[in-house]
Amino acid sequence: MTESENISWHYSKVTKEHRRQLNNHKSVVLWFTGLSGSGKSTISVELEKELHQMGVRTYRLDGDNIRHGLNKDLGFSPDDRKENIRRIGEVSRLMVEAGLVTLTAFISPYREDRDEIRKMMNHDEFIEVFVDASLETCKSRDPKGLYKKVRAGKITGFTGIDAPYEAPVKPEITVNTDVAGVEESVQAIMSYLKTKGYLIND
Ligand code: ADX
Repeated sequence: MTESENISWHYSKVTKEHRRQLNNHKSVVLWFTGLSGSGKSTISVELEKELHQMGVRTYRLDGDNIRHGLNKDLGFSPDDRKENIRRIGEVSRLMVEAGLVTLTAFISPYREDRDEIRKMMNHDEFIEVFVDASLETCKSRDPKGLYKKVRAGKITGFTGIDAPYEAPVKPEITVNTDVAGVEESVQAIMSYLKTKGYLIND
């Protein structure tokens, strides 16, 4: 018996479609993935600001923030990262149900875990955004001084150093922040959303 066996599902009279009509745009999750320091947070912050200014209802979930609250019981072992991503996937799905353009910024190093979330959503509700940057670039940025700590032997199991990062095989969008600046990356994603009709409701 699974723990949810005796629990039933209640349907609301206000559906995702109703919420989309009210908002006048579609809802979707933009799933940013990439190494620590690749630019996931920076780009998602700027993109969210622009979307908001256009009147799009958004919410952003960020690794560093969520790990202070919802997922503060989790560390960085493979199992904990898996659970971290699973919970964020569930929260993202709720946010898409709530009609929001949801932006998530987590390393999410395992391809299988990201693919699980993709499977939970309708095919056009999950946009994987690969924030591609070389380890050298991330090390040189080192915004939180963590790569320095890794070098000093104060952190082990760090993604890209002694823990794996599995790059997406077929992401909907790739931004290469070795060469592209923040604004260029934001515009690339914005252009995808516009071209694919996410910012209107028809
Ligand atoms: S994930 O792997 O489970 O997706 P998440 O995005 O939530 O990671 O958190 C990553 C952030 O935690 C990094 O940007 C960094 O600030 C911090 N961090 C602390 N320890 C580690 C570690 N061992 N590996 C990667 N990031 C770490």
